[in-house]
Amino acid sequence: MKDISHTVSKAPKSGIRALFDLAAGRSDIISLGIGQPDFQTPDIVIQGNIDALKKKITHYAPTRGVPELLKLIENKLRKSNNIQVKWEENIILTNGGSHAISLAYASIFNPGDELIISSPNFVSYFYCGLFYGVKVIEVERREDFSPNIDGIEKAITDKTKALLLNTPNNPTGNVLKINELKKIVDIVIKNDLYLITDEVYENYIFEGLKHTSPASLNGMFERTITINAMSKLFSATGFRLGYAVASAQIIDLMEKYLQYTVAGTNHAAQYGFIEALKMDIEFFTKVWKSFDKRRLFVYNRLKEIGFDVVKPLGAFYIMPSTNNFNISGLQFSQKIMKEKGVAIVPGSIFGAYSEDMIRISYATELKKLEEAMNRIEQFVKNL
Ligand SMILES: Cc1ncc(COP(=O)(O)O)c(C=O)c1O
Repeated sequence: MKDISHTVSKAPKSGIRALFDLAAGRSDIISLGIGQPDFQTPDIVIQGNIDALKKKITHYAPTRGVPELLKLIENKLRKSNNIQVKWEENIILTNGGSHAISLAYASIFNPGDELIISSPNFVSYFYCGLFYGVKVIEVERREDFSPNIDGIEKAITDKTKALLLNTPNNPTGNVLKINELKKIVDIVIKNDLYLITDEVYENYIFEGLKHTSPASLNGMFERTITINAMSKLFSATGFRLGYAVASAQIIDLMEKYLQYTVAGTNHAAQYGFIEALKMDIEFFTKVWKSFDKRRLFVYNRLKEIGFDVVKPLGAFYIMPSTNNFNISGLQFSQKIMKEKGVAIVPGSIFGAYSEDMIRISYATELKKLEEAMNRIEQFVKNL
């Protein structure tokens, strides 16, 4: 048989999925690996989807999405993100935030282009680079996981096409401060770059910090692709709906690419998203409080156990170092899964600078987090 795709073959199977394969058939596992909130998708959102199906909305949706939904997203962008757009020109609905990431790559890069990201960072950014022939340049984050802005500037070459930001960040929990964002934006403008900004965790932000969308800053809209999704805010990862926001020129390209690759997004599910966007955001306050409590609990317990750990300020992940226990992140993750039944993702899947780290998701109820921390404590005592 002739060779199959070299490019796709190079990407490993998802490290997170591999971890779940190890857990298969075991009832004692506590998962700290999961990247989705544990609360129920609001009923009204589910009902919106069901009603649409009952109305026989089972055919292709408009390629960019249902106008009513696009108008609600336009409104949300104006009110919550201070980004002024025209729904007819600047928004396209995607199959989750993941698909918006791949559309961003498809629409701006040519093979050989370079993309700069802070590392550690979310896995898809690396492998989309591989799939679209983009060289992903990792700039190691500072000790507190903030971006190394001088390092980013130094990494720019004549092949650099774009920078990518994900704040609040998966896996580090870092939140970009406004002064850092302004410095990055200056670099983007000065070097005539694009900026991809993944804002799927914008609501999971703590300690009084505020999320600023780069596209709202002067001179940035035309060069920014903003990515978001209903997945994390509405705990609706299975709806597979997200969106990209950009200049009309970029959205036109995304539409072409989307048309010939996936031909649209789930039509009936879009009516669930419509109901979600009509909801009072107050529904999230209770969730937010519970996540804040979990965040502080896990951070304090990890410190108490003896980890070197940076306090996360956003998203729902924490990324301790395993150095104090003389074990790599991968060994830690495999061993604790076997011996104590705790699923934790090794840091190595998030780039070249996190082999001595593990990523813990605290999107799990407090009781389970307590038990998981006790198991981790017993585990490290025996190392
Ligand atoms: C930073 C980041 N961006 C995008 C996504 C993808 O989200 P979705 O489920 O909407 O595709 C995730 C999911 O974990 C994520 O962590």
